[in-house]
Amino acid sequence: MATTAKKPVKIIHDCDPGHDDAVAILMAAVHPMIDLKAVTVVAGNQTLEKTVRNALNVCSASKRCADIPIAAGMSRPMVREQVIAGDIHGESGLDGPVFGEPELGLDTRHAVDLIIDLLLDSDDPITLVPTGPLTNIAMAIRKEPEIVEKIERIVLMGGAYQHGNVTPSAEFNIYADPEAAHVVFTCGRPIVMMGLDVTRKANATAEMVAKVRSLGNPQAILFAEMMEFFAKSQKEVFGWDAPPLHDPTCIAWLIDPTCFTTKPMRVEIELRGSLTYGRTSCDYFGLEHQEGPGKELYEGGGALARPTGPNAEVAVDVDFEKFWKIIYDCFALYK
Ligand code: RIB
Ligand code: CA
Repeated sequence: MATTAKKPVKIIHDCDPGHDDAVAILMAAVHPMIDLKAVTVVAGNQTLEKTVRNALNVCSASKRCADIPIAAGMSRPMVREQVIAGDIHGESGLDGPVFGEPELGLDTRHAVDLIIDLLLDSDDPITLVPTGPLTNIAMAIRKEPEIVEKIERIVLMGGAYQHGNVTPSAEFNIYADPEAAHVVFTCGRPIVMMGLDVTRKANATAEMVAKVRSLGNPQAILFAEMMEFFAKSQKEVFGWDAPPLHDPTCIAWLIDPTCFTTKPMRVEIELRGSLTYGRTSCDYFGLEHQEGPGKELYEGGGALARPTGPNAEVAVDVDFEKFWKIIYDCFALYK
């Protein structure tokens, strides 16, 4: 029986490069399963000025983004004070490789407006792939609620149902703008959450990095140079022997979802906790679901009646070999 070829997935990649964002851009720009409609940039790993410069450099280095709009977005979170991750990504936000002047320039629109325009103008829905703080996505939803029905799904890197990485409770992308994350997780569209629980199993081992480097093309070399710095900073800060490749898990899921195991969960964002601000509270066991173990607390609007039911597919495991074959195959497509 003839298998129907899967159509490329139309995506907007919203990012805060950042070494792992940069790898995700290089994968999305080249893989035939991904129709990259735009790269939008947000403050996060570094200030907006630096994440924009890094995005232009990486998109230029891909040699695949000449016809793709790249737009600068929100320079600050919606409510809280700004936090950045200079300890992990360095002063430039992409320390390690040396870039010249980027060949590509910015779209004249603000990223929030570009996201709105692309969604409203598109004949069919578009998948949003945020790999940084969710400020641009949330601001677009608030500015133009009409876009929500044009969002196919949101495949995001962020959160954790176990341990955080910027506080014991919170993961950086969510912690950097918890109110934006609340807007996104309550927007009603399907969400795939690649949290730290799974990205910490998607490590850039020296063996895998060497395999990609051996391809020898400029993009593979750039990958290896970025991983060299990323590995050092992740070792210093967290003691990891091999850095977790957080953001590329989103692109890998789009290319082959079978690479991951996900579990439906209700995910809510803590906005008031002094110790837990920015935590993704993930109902792993369905405790707060009306059909769950604690249902007597909820029947008839019981004491703890809350919105119930899963709002996200949360990744709980990754097939490491499959994940790295996807990454290797992406960089092998660069000639
Ligand atoms: O916590 C990891 C996330 O924060 C990744 O997206 C990394 O790039 C930083 O943005
Ligand atoms: Ca990121």
